[in-house]
Amino acid sequence: MRVLFYSAQTYDIESFDLANKDHGFELIYLEAHLNEKTALLSKGFDAVCVFVNDSVDAEVLRILSENGIGLIALRCAGFNNVDLEAAKKYNIKIVRVPEYSPYAVAEHSCALILALNRKTHRAYNRTRESNFKLCGLQGFDLAGKTIGIIGCGRIGQVAAKIFDGFGMKVLVYDPYYKGDLDFAVQVTLPELLQASDIVSLYCPLNQETKHLIDAKAIEQMKDGVMIINTSRGALIDSKAAIAGLKSGKIGYLGLDVYEEEAGLFFEDHTGMIMQDEVLARLLTFPNVLVTGHQAFFTAEALSQIAKTTLVNLESSLHGSEISNLVEA
Ligand code: NAI
Repeated sequence: MRVLFYSAQTYDIESFDLANKDHGFELIYLEAHLNEKTALLSKGFDAVCVFVNDSVDAEVLRILSENGIGLIALRCAGFNNVDLEAAKKYNIKIVRVPEYSPYAVAEHSCALILALNRKTHRAYNRTRESNFKLCGLQGFDLAGKTIGIIGCGRIGQVAAKIFDGFGMKVLVYDPYYKGDLDFAVQVTLPELLQASDIVSLYCPLNQETKHLIDAKAIEQMKDGVMIINTSRGALIDSKAAIAGLKSGKIGYLGLDVYEEEAGLFFEDHTGMIMQDEVLARLLTFPNVLVTGHQAFFTAEALSQIAKTTLVNLESSLHGSEISNLVEA
């Protein structure tokens, strides 16, 4: 099987080449993103493999279909970048990696919370300049505080257990909750927003959840609330978040994802002029911490992503039931 990888970074190549020793596929790696232009390069391949910011819209799917591509392997969990109706129309199967390491993402959300609260990112810079003053670095005890978990699936449940371990009160809003966390209290979204000192997002991005955290939702939150998003950028209306930061309503904002991250994240733009004024503004706030979609980025997760993706491809070869199929 010949597979063309888009948006491939050195760490993808390393993990996939290692996992491919069990399969022997021909894997060709491109650093370019998948879009209407680069889709043309797929001729002669059996499948393409893409990541979170590759565009898998109707036009791209049409071109891939013309090139004989019948299978797209997402090497990620989320599939909000795929037009599933168009994939169905062009008879292109979509597979994904629904689970690799919920710990990686949950632990990163915790890292954002701890860094924002105890201002370790600022302390790091200060001490390197021999400034050991503490003014401006005061944090708060997590023990006894309330965290609101929005979306309590695989990642949300791991996160809930971590925060329970800190001695926090854990509230959960998830209309489709299937978990059995005995310490967590299920509440409505308004109840969660009103009662939480920290609101952390672990739900998928879809039509129902786009801008779930908008001006109206922020208004309901506690003054000085901390908001954490390691899920998908468009869960938060970034302009409403800026307004909340300016007024002081939002006390801390930790983002691993950003609604306009495509074309920016996963690349080095050092020395270039930032064209995205919303992100540029967000980065000016001392109480905002942005990481570039790295929550998944652990050795264990990369290895599991490569293994599962190649098994997904293998299952499509044998005509048996295709593993981890995503359907419209
Ligand atoms: P999951 O499918 O196990 O859990 C998602 C949960 O969200 C489910 O329990 C579901 O019922 C709930 N949900 C659905 N609609 C909701 C709504 N309207 N309001 C509240 N909850 C809702 O998914 P998993 O593995 O926990 O991943 C969650 C998200 O994390 C993914 O969709 C993906 O966008 C993001 N993610 C981010 C990564 C990163 O590197 N930053 C890496 C991996 C995933």
